[in-house]
Amino acid sequence: MRNSSRSRVDAFIVMDVMEAARRAEAQGRHIIHMEVGQPGTAAPEGARAALARAMREEAMGYTVALGLPALRARIAQLYGEWYDVDLSPERVIVTPGSSGAFILAFTALFDAGDRVGIGSPGYPSYRQILRALDLVPVDIQTAAENRLQPVAAELCGQDLSGLMVASPANPTGTMLNRGAMSDLIGAAAAQGASFISDEIYHGIEYEAKAVSALEITDECYVINSFSKYFSMTGWRVGWMVVPEDHVRVIERLAQNLFICPSHASQVAALAAMECGTELEANMAVYRRNRTLMLEGLPAAGFDRIAPPDGAFYVYADVSHLTGDSRAFAAEILEKAGVAVTPGLDFDPVRGGGTIRFSYARATADIEEGLARLARFMAARRAG
Ligand SMILES: Cc1ncc(COP(=O)(O)O)c(C=O)c1O
Repeated sequence: MRNSSRSRVDAFIVMDVMEAARRAEAQGRHIIHMEVGQPGTAAPEGARAALARAMREEAMGYTVALGLPALRARIAQLYGEWYDVDLSPERVIVTPGSSGAFILAFTALFDAGDRVGIGSPGYPSYRQILRALDLVPVDIQTAAENRLQPVAAELCGQDLSGLMVASPANPTGTMLNRGAMSDLIGAAAAQGASFISDEIYHGIEYEAKAVSALEITDECYVINSFSKYFSMTGWRVGWMVVPEDHVRVIERLAQNLFICPSHASQVAALAAMECGTELEANMAVYRRNRTLMLEGLPAAGFDRIAPPDGAFYVYADVSHLTGDSRAFAAEILEKAGVAVTPGLDFDPVRGGGTIRFSYARATADIEEGLARLARFMAARRAG
């Protein structure tokens, strides 16, 4: 039996690193995980308690395709709380993670062969999901002086049907300020390209608040998730905000593609939104870890880094140390016992010279990881 050509997407390299780390652990080694992009914490206590209650009292059948009305209303309220944006719950669509939202958004907005701009480096699955839907990912090479975010001038003549941005971004943690976001929205509109803003790391910000595209325009798709700030990766629940006249289009797609997001996860997500104290305690850990990373990485010899504005990653330029980040990550795992992600996942062109460190785990792990990295680099220099 043959496979379709569009099914030929690349593997997620970080998954291979995770597998190598798992094998090392199975052989009895202790590994510090700086590769995985997820909180080490569980879903908030209140979320788990609400689900336990609902499991005793409810049948948990399908919900309506667009999600539990109470959850859509609570998410709309969040836009008032976080951005002072008055949002109708009608425009909020609950999705199976932001990954489910990408499939809905790309399917609703684009036809086969359409070109969609994505920043490089960027979250790898944008490219692969676009390819799987017979769309054409167009890498927009970003520059260090723009903190590895796309700028409006680079969109000229690209003939895009869509532009996808992320702020804070994965793998860099850098953000678009209001001016940069407005310019990109304007440049996309000028060539008739739909604007999609991945805001999955909102809430995990350090110096300034992240700007939502919805503060600037209603003519965009905004995608978010309970995975990161709300510490619920495995629950597979996210959301999307779309213009009013797109809701019915998405509803028809969602009914057919997914029926609905997990009912149980929606119940938990709704309760998670009232767990501010616990979530802010997680933030205090990320903040502390970020400080440790910004001191410890340069001290170890990883000094080509930009301080992240948000998320829980540091993206390091290691091109003076290696041209093969995959082999370098394997060497770090083997000799230092620290799992890191090769940049090739995020940037197929320049990623051979970069690696990503995640600091989402407990502070003790970060301290130990940094100590191991320092010893590894010292031995490498000596050898
Ligand atoms: C920028 C970005 N967007 C989307 C996702 C996917 O998240 P979800 O768990 O909501 O599908 C990730 C996961 O790491 C991410 O880094």
